[in-house]
Amino acid sequence: MPGLRAPSDYSEEPSRHPALKINAKAPFNAEPPRQALVSSYVTPTEFFYKRSHGPIPVVDDIERYSVSIKGLIEKPKEFFMKDILSLPKYNVTATLQCAGNRRTAMSKTRTVRGVGWDVCALGNAIWGGAKLADVLELVGIPKYTNTTPAGGKFVEFVSVDRCKEENGGPYKASIPLSQATNPEADVLLAYEMNGETLNRDHGYPLRVVVPGVIGARSVKWLDSINIDSQDCKGFFVQKDYKMFPPTVNWDNIDWSTRRPQMDFPVQSAICSLEDVNVGRHGKITVKGYAVSGGGRGIERVDISTDGGKTWKEASRYQKPGIQYVADDEKSDKWAWVLFEADVDVQSNTEIVAKAVDIAANVQPEKVEDIWNLRGILNTSWHRVHVQVRHSSM
Ligand code: MTE
Repeated sequence: MPGLRAPSDYSEEPSRHPALKINAKAPFNAEPPRQALVSSYVTPTEFFYKRSHGPIPVVDDIERYSVSIKGLIEKPKEFFMKDILSLPKYNVTATLQCAGNRRTAMSKTRTVRGVGWDVCALGNAIWGGAKLADVLELVGIPKYTNTTPAGGKFVEFVSVDRCKEENGGPYKASIPLSQATNPEADVLLAYEMNGETLNRDHGYPLRVVVPGVIGARSVKWLDSINIDSQDCKGFFVQKDYKMFPPTVNWDNIDWSTRRPQMDFPVQSAICSLEDVNVGRHGKITVKGYAVSGGGRGIERVDISTDGGKTWKEASRYQKPGIQYVADDEKSDKWAWVLFEADVDVQSNTEIVAKAVDIAANVQPEKVEDIWNLRGILNTSWHRVHVQVRHSSM
């Protein structure tokens, strides 16, 4: 395609921060160390997790790059970068989370298929770009449209990268038209991340950002948009990011029985501590993140130092100097909150975090209850162990 090209091998990959923990090299999948992730509310781009399914695309000529919008609409149109840049620009602070975040912990219960992630397959960025609702208006689809006159109900985003899951074809995914045309849903065609031009790993020159929804719908390296009567038929929508009950295995799975996952559930994890920590007894600062999908704020984060028997509430914060109140207009509704609590640890113990969102959704206690063969949406209570070394002095 003009302007944007998909390499057939990994010889043109961008350079990355050496501190990233690489979970798979080719395609490149990596997450930051826990401590680094919660050292700032806005995740620095170099520490933002990177999730790809093929070689990273290359822009040869930005002037020739364009996105075509077609399908069940009256006015198909091609948009060049200058057309997107001429639309009103919005900055939306939103947390992107991979549905596979915390998969490694789920696989310890029973084997699951997929890239192993610790607790850092997410990040919080300021995305700058045009609203998809504004772009769709230019092809004749008004705001708040559920169905186009020709029967279009879904918006499919198609990329250029070559994914083995699509037999070498591009990554694609879709969202409902009602969400795409709702300006309050803040779906962006983003060209900036944290105030800078999007970098190659995160979708340069243009990516979709669907706030509050699993990362899989935020298609990078956008090539075309297709208005369709049905959800995208691609692998990543139909045969991947779906939540099955623990009874379903690879012999009895019927993918058509479950809906493609959209919003992510309430989630939290402790990032100031590793799974096992050896230290002296005394005060420990427990720090981490909590986030929920669909724009639901975080009402509470509870911390336990006795494996979940008793709890204490952690303090929550987003921006410096502004008290975080879930659902308040001063809060970033699509963004995580960071939490902090000082606890006193005198003997070997398990520290646990669980979050509650504004709809009173609570993280489930046991990973076993939500185990699923693809290892997605592990939102069980996050547990870390502290082993106390008593000095003889
Ligand atoms: N878009 C394309 N074109 N190719 C991909 O492999 N991965 C998806 C999504 N968009 C993907 C994509 C998944 S599964 C996630 S979690 C996010 O991108 C990750 O975005 P990031 O790498 O910017 O963190």
